[in-house]
Amino acid sequence: MADRHRPTFTDLPAQVRGWAEEVLGSPVAGTGPATGGYSPGVTDSLFCADGRSAFLKASHPSLNPDSPGLLRSELRALRAMPAGLPIAALLDAFDEGADGWVAVLLERVPGVQAPLPWTDTTIEAALASLAELAGALTPAPVGGFGGAGDALAPLMTLWSELAGVDDLDPWCAARLPALDAAGCRALATVDGDTLLHLDLRADNLMLREDGRLIIVDWAWAARGAAWVDPALLAIEFISSAAPEVDADAWIEHVAGTYRVATDSIVDLLAGILGFFERTGRLPDPPGLPTLRDFQRFQAAALRRWLRRSPHARRSIRG
Ligand SMILES: Nc1ncnc2c1ncn2[C@@H]1O[C@H](COP(=O)(O)OP(=O)(O)OP(=O)(O)O)[C@@H](O)[C@H]1O
Ligand SMILES: [Mg+2]
Repeated sequence: MADRHRPTFTDLPAQVRGWAEEVLGSPVAGTGPATGGYSPGVTDSLFCADGRSAFLKASHPSLNPDSPGLLRSELRALRAMPAGLPIAALLDAFDEGADGWVAVLLERVPGVQAPLPWTDTTIEAALASLAELAGALTPAPVGGFGGAGDALAPLMTLWSELAGVDDLDPWCAARLPALDAAGCRALATVDGDTLLHLDLRADNLMLREDGRLIIVDWAWAARGAAWVDPALLAIEFISSAAPEVDADAWIEHVAGTYRVATDSIVDLLAGILGFFERTGRLPDPPGLPTLRDFQRFQAAALRRWLRRSPHARRSIRG
């Protein structure tokens, strides 16, 4: 994977550092960079002289033109959430407007990024946290969130752009219309009234010291059907190839718990495969040199799974 250099707290201009230290009530004496994630902004744990700690995310349009907007979306989601959920609570935010810095100060999660491979224990923890979130975030809190169908449409409709692509896997090339139809069908099923995360991956999940799974990075939050987040987590299980995890059993479990057809879950994952296949072939976005490798890796794993899954419709499996 390409190297990536995130700026750190000490690279930030004085007004952003000053704001953080004022909110924390103590000078920052040390920082710890986060390893997960793809954004080009600051993602640092801050350790204060008086023993307090927090987690800072900060971005500027010069790092990537879309990053400040994503941070503002995350802020909107965090502001709408009730207390006590398995998330990192918002402490404060700083925003200089269109051409300036935007920063979010969060509670620091004492723990590690969800450790791979997944085990029965960490899957149990994920299930518990997702159920807790779905319970508290249905109906979705007010906050002007868009619908999951609209949010996912640009991702789920990319199979048609892959026609004629030379290096497309022959298995995909042979069933492009069926894969395209699956993605389109899925879009008709994802709407609902739960506030969803829509970007559940190991690097957005943290295992806290007490065993609770904490869900971070809410930039893509949208209103949709409660089954969508747990269904998307199947991608994580598929791509991490954890020996203890049977992604098809997970899909059955989600289908049973949330009363959704396994067909709808597979359609969603087939649509997302089109997103990874398409975007993994695009040039690197500014400041995100590791993203395309990740997308190609996800595509290969999802493709392997879809070819074998007993839940994939005959029209897809062939
Ligand atoms: N509150 C927190 N406390 C401790 N560590 C955190 C916290 N939030 C996130 N992290 C760690 O920092 C990493 C990056 O954070 P996050 O996922 O929020 O941002 P990102 O993916 O880089 O950015 P974005 O999606 O906004 O572009 C996470 O993978 C996680 O390991
Ligand atoms: Mg992240």
